[in-house]
Amino acid sequence: MKREEMIQRAKEHFGKLIEEQLERIERMKSQQDFIDYNKLPTIVIGIVGGDGIGPYITSQAQRVLEFLLQDEVKAGKVTFKVIDGLTIENRARHNKAIPDDVLEQLKQCHVILKGPTTTPRAGDPWPNIESANVAMRKELDLFANVRPVKIPQEGINWTFFRENTEGAYAVGNKGIHVNEDLAIDFTITTYEGSYRILKAAFDYARKTGLNRVTVVTKANVVKTTDGKFLEVAREVAKEYPEVEWDDWYIDIMTAKLLDPKRRTQFKVIVLPNLYGDILTDEAAELQGGVGTAGSANIGKRYAMFEAIHGSAPRMVEEGRTQYADPSSIIRAAGMLLEHIGYGDKAKKLDMALDICGTYEKKLVITGRDTGATGAQFADYVMETLSDENLENRWAEYTNLLKD
Ligand code: IPM
Ligand code: MG
Repeated sequence: MKREEMIQRAKEHFGKLIEEQLERIERMKSQQDFIDYNKLPTIVIGIVGGDGIGPYITSQAQRVLEFLLQDEVKAGKVTFKVIDGLTIENRARHNKAIPDDVLEQLKQCHVILKGPTTTPRAGDPWPNIESANVAMRKELDLFANVRPVKIPQEGINWTFFRENTEGAYAVGNKGIHVNEDLAIDFTITTYEGSYRILKAAFDYARKTGLNRVTVVTKANVVKTTDGKFLEVAREVAKEYPEVEWDDWYIDIMTAKLLDPKRRTQFKVIVLPNLYGDILTDEAAELQGGVGTAGSANIGKRYAMFEAIHGSAPRMVEEGRTQYADPSSIIRAAGMLLEHIGYGDKAKKLDMALDICGTYEKKLVITGRDTGATGAQFADYVMETLSDENLENRWAEYTNLLKD
């Protein structure tokens, strides 16, 4: 291909991306406010198993949810909808990140609990389709990826607000191979997209009384897009005079999460998509592993809750599926409960998970037949939830840890 032709083709592609984003901005501008779950006659909870260990651990989380919501289900206030078809086989068959009929079913739910899904890359046996996670976040406009990390005995209480629809992920599957030597990807930051995630973080800091927000970018180098994110942060911060805020660059922030003197000062942390992806894995690892953290993907109309680990295909191949740890997805189920207005049940579930997974550990999951199965662990969590003494038991453990 001639050089002019190559450039022309790339320009046209770039033009299309700009058009798509301008349209997206219009959609964001015309969006309604957050849905009010109190006003719904019935809340529909979608259960999506995903791949690998996903269907197994998700069904354990569903059991716990059904246990906690039994009265609401009987009264018709809550209903469950199991959605199959988000498996890698089915996605590959349709050559789509989310097959149309699956997307339609997702849109019939209010909130979704989702197991991990395989994300193909070039060279895999699957077509190199977009990640189902990323597609769902974009399709349902789940712009706030909220990831709490708590290590009480070390004074750590972080809540990450990762922007979930823009940055390097927005058109991550729409870069340009100009020719065999030159590959170009794009990163996108919009005023509307930055404003809504920053506002969500500052709102949370105010609502919880934490009153501290840390904004993370690399605005000294990535001047245009990260620069914009930081500029919008300055604007939003003015609306919250009582909330203290500061800004850090992602490299030093990654280091400071390891600094015991500094890290306890961070509370609410808000950051663009890719930095959020990386920093939240680091934070979860400090808490005890990526398998211990839950993740909420919140939009104005829909919300999706998931484990932050992958689908562990090796466990399935080696016949160890039933030994997979459902803790992370059960944590995510707790976030779902909190989000739809069952904060008390969510709090109890958190306590039960702390007792079963961190403090008492009557059953231990090792991922192999040397430990408990996920179903046994879910039983243990439900047994603990039934204990009238749950709160005292939890308080005892946390006090023990303080001494
Ligand atoms: C996450 C995951 C996803 C991401 C992958 C599976 C596409 O790592 O939820 O953090 O990069 O966002
Ligand atoms: Mg990640």
